[in-house]
Amino acid sequence: MDDYALPFWIYLGVLSVLVGGAMKKILASHLGSAPPLVAWLGATVLVERLWAFCLPAALLLLLLLLLLLLGLVCCLSAAGRTGPPAAALPAHGKAVLITGCDSGFGNATAKYLDAIGFEVFATVLDLSGDGARELRRTCSPRLTLLQVDITQPQQVQQALMDTKAKLGLKGLWGLVNNAGVCVNFGDIELSLMSNFRGCMDVNFFGTLSVTKSFLPLLRQAKGRIIAISSPAGDQPFPCLAAYGASKAALNLLINTLRHELEPWGVQVSTILPSSFKTGQSSNHAYWEWQHKQLLQSLPPALLEDYGEDYLMETKELFQSYASQANPDLSPVTDAVVRALLSPRPQVRYLAGPGVGLMYFIHSYCPFSVSSRFLQKLFLKKKLMPRALRRRSGFELNLSLHNNNNNNNNEEEEEEEQEEEQEQEQEKLK
Ligand SMILES: *[C@@H]1O[C@H](CO)[C@@H](O)[C@H](O)[C@H]1NC(C)=O
Repeated sequence: MDDYALPFWIYLGVLSVLVGGAMKKILASHLGSAPPLVAWLGATVLVERLWAFCLPAALLLLLLLLLLLLGLVCCLSAAGRTGPPAAALPAHGKAVLITGCDSGFGNATAKYLDAIGFEVFATVLDLSGDGARELRRTCSPRLTLLQVDITQPQQVQQALMDTKAKLGLKGLWGLVNNAGVCVNFGDIELSLMSNFRGCMDVNFFGTLSVTKSFLPLLRQAKGRIIAISSPAGDQPFPCLAAYGASKAALNLLINTLRHELEPWGVQVSTILPSSFKTGQSSNHAYWEWQHKQLLQSLPPALLEDYGEDYLMETKELFQSYASQANPDLSPVTDAVVRALLSPRPQVRYLAGPGVGLMYFIHSYCPFSVSSRFLQKLFLKKKLMPRALRRRSGFELNLSLHNNNNNNNNEEEEEEEQEEEQEQEQEKLK
């Protein structure tokens, strides 16, 4: 063992440095730094393996030197990419249209873009609402408010005509597709068809209709298209299927558009925010109303199978999740500005704490790990649907009677119950 002491400590030291470096990157993870991170982890494994084969120390040192250099280069390039654009284009004289400025990201983005000199066209659902009034009050006279429900083609056309009239011969530099809704929250079986259609109508068809209508103006300016999407469009968040499916459709649309518009010089970016406190998620009255509607419209047999308490738990979990959301929307507004003004905008901007880690786990971890992570991260449901509870309770009783070694440790019982339930679910599949 003594013979090995020195190489062992060197080995341990090198490994700690590499693993430490990788951990640091994971903690500060953006998708932009994922490739260097993978290179780093790969190098760690490589060094570990090579050591196991007892390569001459000289070769190893050389390799290490190279790796450190590579790591340094990667770090520098990644840092360069995540900072503010070094040579941002000027905002002055550029016109941008933002949809959904009644509240949330739209409200914040319209104000911010106006403040840094853009000519902003802000569409709102309600011209006499709080959001519109506030924009009128706080923004410069450059800002134009337009009333648009993006699901209504005539209103989109009217907005196009008004914008054209104001722009004259000038094109439109930017379109920020922000308007979006999440109309419900719950298991797919407990969601109404109208919930799926409602999300699709706004998030997908509405965005498509606005984008198609304004494309001639955007091509004319060789401008930018930005879509505010959601990680729920890439990853299966529990209880967000209707919203997530519409965002998934949007992501595909936007990604295809990016290829098609490349020859036109129009660049397309997607922004993927983590959880933020926006107008809708904190609209307590809406979620209460939505919950009542659901209880009234579900078939009684379905309500019996799942139980009112199950629905109640989902609603409460969502409300507590929404109340913990980040109230500072600046990561999103910053990303919009980068996508509008960076000479070479990124394809995707991950905006907000934790979202980089979420994508890292989704992209590089085994499926079992990533799906478990999503279930734990988002909603920690404690209740099973009522019908499953009854059955597993019955089986639990049987197994307790059959198992004499069982001590009455509560935790073990719970674990056992979980196992039973999992088995039960397997059977049902
Ligand atoms: C708009 O954003 C400001 C902060 O910039 C906030 O104080 C205000 O409440 C928001 N308005 C609405 C209607 O969301």
